[in-house]
Amino acid sequence: MTPLRAILRGTGMSVPSREVDNHRLSRVMDTNDQWIRERSGIHTRFYADPGVSTADLGAAAARQALAAAELEADAVDYVVCATMTPDHYFPGSGTLIQARLGIPPCPALDIRQQCAGFAYGLQLVDSLIRSGVAKTVLLVGADIHSVLLPWSEATWRTLYEDGEPELSQEDYDWNTKYRHLTVLFGDGAGAMVFQGSHEDDGRGILGSELRGDGNHKDILFVPGIGSAYRPFVDSEMIKRGDSVPVMDGRSVFKLAVTHMPKVTRSILDSHGYSLEDLDLLVMHQANLRINEAAQKSLGLPDSKVHNNIQTYGNTTAATLPICFFEAQQAGKAEPGSLVAFTALGAGLHYGSVLMRI
Ligand code: UT7
Repeated sequence: MTPLRAILRGTGMSVPSREVDNHRLSRVMDTNDQWIRERSGIHTRFYADPGVSTADLGAAAARQALAAAELEADAVDYVVCATMTPDHYFPGSGTLIQARLGIPPCPALDIRQQCAGFAYGLQLVDSLIRSGVAKTVLLVGADIHSVLLPWSEATWRTLYEDGEPELSQEDYDWNTKYRHLTVLFGDGAGAMVFQGSHEDDGRGILGSELRGDGNHKDILFVPGIGSAYRPFVDSEMIKRGDSVPVMDGRSVFKLAVTHMPKVTRSILDSHGYSLEDLDLLVMHQANLRINEAAQKSLGLPDSKVHNNIQTYGNTTAATLPICFFEAQQAGKAEPGSLVAFTALGAGLHYGSVLMRI
């Protein structure tokens, strides 16, 4: 009998309705559309309204994925939620999504590998299904970055209103201090539903190569808030900006351009495939220039990659499923296609997952 494989049954996505283009960001900080487009490729991103949480977006994406899979919620027997922005410090958003969907009590967990979260989730799904621990797994990647933006109420008002911006110089300077970071991110969620099958048609998650390396922690991390401090959080930390991530963008850029192609070649090779066999490469969307460089180094034609950072910015754990969903809509991932997913993010976490859909 063919061994059990995790077969993709359905995909879904959800983004909030508030679209914010680069021009609007220039109302609240010293930035401009040209800089953001040229350096990152981003044109717009979407922000959730206050009160809309990661579990809300995640549940919406999950409902769509279940509908696409033609499955009812009670078919799901395991939930994995990849997020770095859970609704609460605890519990995680996995059980909140399970409850919102009416999935009967089942194991539900959060994983937090930031931009590589969904790739790690795919490896987990593969292991859960192959081992027989779960039959139908819901994997969600969801992040709400707008809640992390270190902006005042006046900044948010100025961002959304029309007319001549009226923001204090102090707020404007503070926002400008973080412009290299804040212009890059957006909110979103994506979901996939997998089921175990013994069918002998070559479909399923074929394998994964993931790496974590804490030696690179300092190039992207949040310096304040956490068990490294007593108290865990205080108002001084917030005032100092220690709740805002520190990012050495150039180092992240260089590591992404090097590691994503390398692990993608490696996973193909270890399964006896070449780049010619690959139908689609879904890359994390942190910077269009990273993905252009990775595509070039792999020698892949435009028809075999899909980028949507232009519209959504970097949505962290939501990026891979949203990008795959849209690639499928664009006709780049027909049934039977060989698809590789690759990502790199804070941790450092990175890797590649190979799947025949
Ligand atoms: O998935 C993990 C998440 N993070 C990443 O993947 C980040 C990867 N790295 C990147 O995407 C790029 O490094 C950035 C887009 C973050 C920055 O691009 P860069 O070409 O490395 O620019 P830079 O940081 O070297 O800054 C160049 C200039 C600086 O001005 P000076 O010192 O040359 O006068 C910055 O202050 O651009 C300035 N700058 C901006 N100007 C307008 C930085 N951010 C902005 C901005 N608008 N938003």
